[in-house]
Amino acid sequence: MAMAPRAYVMALVLSVAAVIHAHGAVHKVGDSAGWTTIGSPDYKQWAVTKTFELGDVIRFEYNPQFHNVMRVTHAMYRACNATAPLATYTTGNDSISITTRGHHYFICGVNGHCQSGQRVDINVLPTTATPSSSPASSMAAPTLSSAQSPGPSSNTAASSMASIAKALLLAMAILFHLGFA
Ligand SMILES: *[C@@H]1O[C@H](CO)[C@@H](O)[C@H](O)[C@H]1NC(C)=O
Ligand SMILES: *[C@@H]1O[C@H](CO)[C@@H](O)[C@H](O)[C@H]1NC(C)=O
Repeated sequence: MAMAPRAYVMALVLSVAAVIHAHGAVHKVGDSAGWTTIGSPDYKQWAVTKTFELGDVIRFEYNPQFHNVMRVTHAMYRACNATAPLATYTTGNDSISITTRGHHYFICGVNGHCQSGQRVDINVLPTTATPSSSPASSMAAPTLSSAQSPGPSSNTAASSMASIAKALLLAMAILFHLGFA
């Protein structure tokens, strides 16, 4: 094809914009408490106050001398079974990108920690992201602790730049494929 169908280019622009907006929110697990057993943070409650989207980053911050992060199956999550994790993270500042919808289960693999509540279920809902129209997240908001700032998790400048770069590459790839570049 020689000419760009206008509607197609418009759709491309919109989808690139969607990619930029949908990606890159960083969710620090436990907020200021981080990933710990101290004070027994309620990670279930933390998770229900968030809206997780594809491309978001889940950050676990903890003292690596005392904790770790293991991604596990649902059965292992329920049983606090750390014998065969799908992935293990041990740096103390682990940023994990969420690239698939559905549940992502994480536990601390140190003896007894999962049992005492150090586990979290990151659930990326199957619907397209429309956070502002989600009654579930606004209903959950009043139970947030006072230290929490309202609104969605902040984008870091770095991850926004990465998203934009990714979106531009995607656009260029599509244009190239269609013979425009
Ligand atoms: C823990 O998970 C592994 C791998 O799925 C399994 O072989 C083992 O039987 C489990 N242990 C317990 C106590 O459930
Ligand atoms: C963890 O890493 C992020 C960047 O990936 C950084 O912004 C943050 O300050 C780090 N946190 C700690 C406690 O080092």
